[in-house]
Amino acid sequence: MEVKKLGVVGCGQMGAGIVQVFAQAGYDVIAVDTMPGMLEKGLKGIDKRLAGRVEKGKLSEDQKKAIMGRIKTGTKLQDLADCDVVEEAAPEDLGLKKKLFAELDRICKPETIFGSNTSGLSVTDMAVATKRGDKVIGMHFHNPAPVMQLLELVRTIMTSQETIDTVKQWGGTLGKTVVVAPDVGGFIVTRLFTPFLLGAVRMLEAGIATRDEIDTSMKLAVNHPMGPLEVVDFIGLDTELSIAQSLYEETKEVKYAPPLLLIKMVTAGWLGRKTGKGFYEYK
Ligand SMILES: NC(=O)c1ccc[n+]([C@@H]2O[C@H](COP(=O)([O-])OP(=O)(O)OC[C@H]3O[C@@H](n4cnc5c(N)ncnc54)[C@H](O)[C@@H]3O)[C@@H](O)[C@H]2O)c1
Repeated sequence: MEVKKLGVVGCGQMGAGIVQVFAQAGYDVIAVDTMPGMLEKGLKGIDKRLAGRVEKGKLSEDQKKAIMGRIKTGTKLQDLADCDVVEEAAPEDLGLKKKLFAELDRICKPETIFGSNTSGLSVTDMAVATKRGDKVIGMHFHNPAPVMQLLELVRTIMTSQETIDTVKQWGGTLGKTVVVAPDVGGFIVTRLFTPFLLGAVRMLEAGIATRDEIDTSMKLAVNHPMGPLEVVDFIGLDTELSIAQSLYEETKEVKYAPPLLLIKMVTAGWLGRKTGKGFYEYK
């Protein structure tokens, strides 16, 4: 199948970045979000990032205009009916994602391929919420989507070879390197990275080291661009908690158990950059 028209559900941190990736690669894309203000915020962010590229001479003003011109927005899933691929980037909540997939299945044309940007939830569970399990695949972009080079595809036992081939080929046109992972909790990246991030929260909680000692040490010792607590703020503490909960539920491995400090901070509404306060404070 030739992929031409793309849809994205959820225009938050990841969704807006994915919309940018799609439009930059020359595709028409429609972004759907149901929360007031999120589409405007997402578009503003894209415009600002592209303006930065124009300033650096990496993009012309005409190219920026053309990219922005390929992006449409909508507030209903019905707006996605004739898309060839729909990527879901709603919050990390399996119940919500299953509901969205069931609705999209009723709305979209039979050929539409459904992707999920889930960090680690069961893609099989999303597939069975539809009647097109062969056309459901994990499409895990990384944060920030326009910058990070990896596209981690997640193949379930129901995903057809045709879907994998189509998405792999199309993924290459986005300028990403594609890997295919099995549908196990956290796939490759989240499964490996989560114990490290949770370990940093536990270290802080136990008073073994301060926030700055932890982050500075990991930046200078391992050459990570951000320390682990900065990364959790960047991901969003609510998202990190959902990831830990689902991985712990599936594996029962202590390394995935959510630290109490993380739970309490989410309860307090300290979700990181998106709320202006997490392990750090943001203006
Ligand atoms: N944050 C990260 O670093 C990161 C990295 C990779 C993958 N992910 C995954 O990407 C997904 C999105 O994460 P995020 O960080 O962008 O979350 P976010 O909270 O920033 O954005 C989610 C968006 O979905 C919208 N939304 C909620 N319900 C909706 C509905 N019914 N219909 C349409 N839109 C709806 C919200 O209004 C919001 O704009 C999650 O599955 C997450 O695990 C996140």
